[in-house]
Amino acid sequence: MKNLFIETYGCQMNVADSEVVASILSAEYQICDNIKNADLILLNTCSVRDHAEQRIRKRLNELGALKKKKAGLQIGLLGCMAERVKEKLLHEETALDFIAGPDAYRSLPALIQESAFGKTAFNVLLSTEETYDDIEPIRYDTNGISAFISIMRGCNNFCSYCVVPYTRGRERSRSSETIIREAQQLIDQGYKEITLLGQNVNSYCSNENSEVVNFAKLLEKVALLSPKVRVRFATSHPKDISDELIETIAKYDNCCKYIHLPVQAGSNVMLKRMNRVYTREYYLERIATIKRLIPDCAIATDIIAGFSGETEEDHQATLSLMKEVGYCAAYMFKYSERDCTMAAKRFPDDIPDEVKGRRLEEIIALQQDLSLAHNQKDIGKTFEVLVEGASKRDANEYFGRNSQNKVIIFPKENAKIGDYVMVTVQSCSPATLKGVLAK
Ligand code: 5AD
Ligand code: SF4
Repeated sequence: MKNLFIETYGCQMNVADSEVVASILSAEYQICDNIKNADLILLNTCSVRDHAEQRIRKRLNELGALKKKKAGLQIGLLGCMAERVKEKLLHEETALDFIAGPDAYRSLPALIQESAFGKTAFNVLLSTEETYDDIEPIRYDTNGISAFISIMRGCNNFCSYCVVPYTRGRERSRSSETIIREAQQLIDQGYKEITLLGQNVNSYCSNENSEVVNFAKLLEKVALLSPKVRVRFATSHPKDISDELIETIAKYDNCCKYIHLPVQAGSNVMLKRMNRVYTREYYLERIATIKRLIPDCAIATDIIAGFSGETEEDHQATLSLMKEVGYCAAYMFKYSERDCTMAAKRFPDDIPDEVKGRRLEEIIALQQDLSLAHNQKDIGKTFEVLVEGASKRDANEYFGRNSQNKVIIFPKENAKIGDYVMVTVQSCSPATLKGVLAK
């Protein structure tokens, strides 16, 4: 057996894809955790922001040095950046032996072989059907407690700033049968938490044996497998967050009370320019419905600062929307123009970097306050926590998460990793809750 080392960048979808890749190559390669022992190094990359790509370029330089020292070492590039920059990368980056786009992983054994004979090898064909449905992922970097299942691939939304529809292709859903089978296998192996993954999970739709399974139905099917196994999902588009889905989350205790619902911007002008297809009022109505049907639901978001044409007033609208929703957490970014997107073609990247930076800082500062306020409301409450591991700061403490996806730290006492324990919150920071086991 040869040794394979995979570095995964970007989103959770990439983590799930790396597990599929490990499985596709498992006849010849075993995963190793020390890069020095690797015969093959794969970088599974992200293109969502320019910053991510620059990081990978830098990494390729470092790996070039490693390659000079080790004869026969092969290096391949996977994922969105492979798809976006294509064979140009092979010419620019001499460390690279081959590249494979997100729908080309079945051809990896052939690409590896071709490039071993000195040919530059690449496959960046996108498919309208590939879902890797039949491939059982190898979960090589796991705590044995939480696992991801990729339920769909690609995206059809074409938000004007986003490169994903071009790098990951058209949206396609896996069959619910294979998803349920995979979930059941995970449960049989002792996993306690399953996260259903996709670029836009709530537009999941599978048509099987005359039954149409939408995302709410799929979530219900997974939730019903075991009441002791939590179900999460990421990520959702506001346009598809139906009452049926909210009601399903409310109905099952093991459907986690946490929704990541990226808003991106708070003004209707920006939302329109971003092609998000909803208005501020529609978004806030969906939030109100979530809060009404699931009062203890935590809501998180993604926000972009400094998109094309964003005025100070637009920026203020983002801040006021954040306050109105009271997000528990947010992923916040400066707009980074990506070529081939609608925005790159139609709208100038006209907000100066200092202005983008200042707006982003204001957004981050506000979110710190909102996260802290959200966490402070939890002080004195008792939550069911799934124990995930030892705290990094103190070996006598564990960390875990509650249903609302909040990290809680507490003294170990008799608990074990993988247990559900009841923890009473005593204090907090914007990022974590601290508590003690409830007696
Ligand atoms: N610039 C900045 N942020 C972006 N995102 C996607 N594309 C861009 C871009 N070009 C952010 C969005 C999305 C998250 C995954 O990344 O907020 O929800
Ligand atoms: Fe990109 Fe929009 Fe699709 Fe998300 S929904 S992946 S932001 S195009």
